[in-house]
Amino acid sequence: MPHNIAVLTSGGDAPGMNAAIRAVVRSAIHRGWQVIGIESGFGGLLSGEFRALQRGDVSGIIDKGGTFLLSTRSAAFMEEQAQAEAVAILRAHQITGLIVIGGNGSQAGALALAQRAFPVVGIGATIDNDVFGTDFAVGVDTALNIALEAIDRIKVTAASHQRVFLVEVMGRDSGYLALVSGIAGGAELIVIPEVEDDPARMADQLLGAYQRGHAHAIAVVAEGARYDADAFSNYISADPNYTKIEPRVTKLGHVQRGGAPGVVDRLLASQLGVAACDCFARGEHGVLVGMVAGKVAETALPTVVASKKTLDRELIRLSGELAY
Ligand code: F6P
Repeated sequence: MPHNIAVLTSGGDAPGMNAAIRAVVRSAIHRGWQVIGIESGFGGLLSGEFRALQRGDVSGIIDKGGTFLLSTRSAAFMEEQAQAEAVAILRAHQITGLIVIGGNGSQAGALALAQRAFPVVGIGATIDNDVFGTDFAVGVDTALNIALEAIDRIKVTAASHQRVFLVEVMGRDSGYLALVSGIAGGAELIVIPEVEDDPARMADQLLGAYQRGHAHAIAVVAEGARYDADAFSNYISADPNYTKIEPRVTKLGHVQRGGAPGVVDRLLASQLGVAACDCFARGEHGVLVGMVAGKVAETALPTVVASKKTLDRELIRLSGELAY
């Protein structure tokens, strides 16, 4: 049966969203379906920002960061009435299925539509890597590489001055970006929300790095940690035991979200865009398509939304060993 598929991006943008849209459009057209792009996420759905997409509309975007369909965090869409209205709007446009590309909030929005019997398939895209049902969300790998490049650069200046740097990375309440970029960047300390740590022990670990002959001490700190970079810096500065440490704080912030997607995100986005169309072709929906142990896998949206993705305990353990 020919479909009329709509696609939107929602929440914080992530490198590779454009590659995912491109894959959806190309795969759908290849099957003889029509594709509608909805601009500005769920907000644009409510205000009817629909446009037909052809093959040419997604030419030259696979290498572009951000999302050419634009994205919003729509407060209005949180209301039940708005969600019911959204389904009515989709039906009025003869849309037979919607693909939602975004993080946890976006997948909660997708579930709200699925619960109103509208066919939806989700694709996890967020630099935070906290979407249950996929080992990697689209955008994570590129964000990690951006953070890593920044850490490597900071190390150079830190070593010249034998300084302590506290590098804060994004991730909301997940420590994934901090943990992985910290391990790969050879940080002397990694601070994540998943591990409740004592600030005195953390400061001692930085001082200990000098005592062991390190030329610098880098702490990679998750923005969601109880002691984020500012709080930890204030703690160190207020304690006379640590007068030797004059920490410098660098917050990478939105720098991690911009930039061109790398090969891993372009490939992942392409695979998941096609996999989402495969779902509709099989008559399957109400799921998120993800990559689990190297294979495309579907997870029911209620499970995706209700489950918390946890960090690999083994990675946490080895990060502690390698920091010494
Ligand atoms: O969810 C992605 C993310 O970049 C988080 O890491 C960060 O906490 C948040 O979005 C920032 O949101 P905004 O772009 O709305 O400031």
